[in-house]
Amino acid sequence: MTYRASACGKIILLGEHAVVYGFPAVAVPVAGLRAKAELAPADLPFILIAPDIGLTSALQDLPANHPLAFCVRRTAEFLGTGIPAARLTITSDIPPASGLGSGAAVSTAIVRVLSASAGRSLAPGEISQIVFDVERIYHGTPSGVDNTVIAYECPVYFQRGREPVLLKINAGMHLLVADSGVHSETRSAVDGVRERWQSDPARYEDLFRRIGALADIGRGHLENGCAQPLGITMNQCHELLRAIGVSTPGLDRLVDAARQAGAFGAKLTGAGLGGNVVALADPQDLERIGSALRGAGAVAVYRTTLESV
Ligand code: MEV
Repeated sequence: MTYRASACGKIILLGEHAVVYGFPAVAVPVAGLRAKAELAPADLPFILIAPDIGLTSALQDLPANHPLAFCVRRTAEFLGTGIPAARLTITSDIPPASGLGSGAAVSTAIVRVLSASAGRSLAPGEISQIVFDVERIYHGTPSGVDNTVIAYECPVYFQRGREPVLLKINAGMHLLVADSGVHSETRSAVDGVRERWQSDPARYEDLFRRIGALADIGRGHLENGCAQPLGITMNQCHELLRAIGVSTPGLDRLVDAARQAGAFGAKLTGAGLGGNVVALADPQDLERIGSALRGAGAVAVYRTTLESV
């Protein structure tokens, strides 16, 4: 029998980077962008195929710290099943290295497909924990926000070391995600922030505290369905992310274009130094803002809606 599973991408609405230092963040799923895993029976050895990165390999030939291989081995260890005789194919429509959680989504899809094939239904918290272990290979020091929002696939208020708070939203929210086309590895953006924090801890801790305070304020606006004030909070967050050195002229151009075209707010999302920006807007303005983002250099623009619950 062939098993299939998938996992969503994510957007950090508020709080990236500061969340690594223990401050809160607010993140939401992007249901329409997904990583997919298909597990088909095959003879041993276990084969991993990831056409997007040109990988076809026996699991046993991949090093212990290869993220996909580690994810398979870690999941099998968690399930206590051993490695099945199978062929695992992974595809994804989430752009890699662009702040949308592609690595965590691929890992989540792998955990889900392996647990389904073992006849087990893991709780989101268990999936999140396995994916966090894989994230440590990708990032070094992940906060845990990406694996949490993707494993739960719902808006979350996240703070390291605490149970995630799953958020209910009072009114639908309409977002545009615009890709700068510049790939950026989370690890190097996070390392850069850490170096600057180490050389000026007082200034950086103040900036992190202010980013965390915006996540607290924005959480309330999100829950109450208040798009306009949430947009203002996102704008303020972008300025603080610029101050910690993770924006670029290209990202600033996209953010400005979205605001000038009528977005309630716009900011970079994820690690920055490339990747995507997110804009929050009234549904009737989305087309105009999308055109403005393309005109300002976006190589792709995605639309996503947060449904009220
Ligand atoms: C990456 O999606 C978000 C960062 O805050 C890193 C992390 O939380 O692990 C930059």
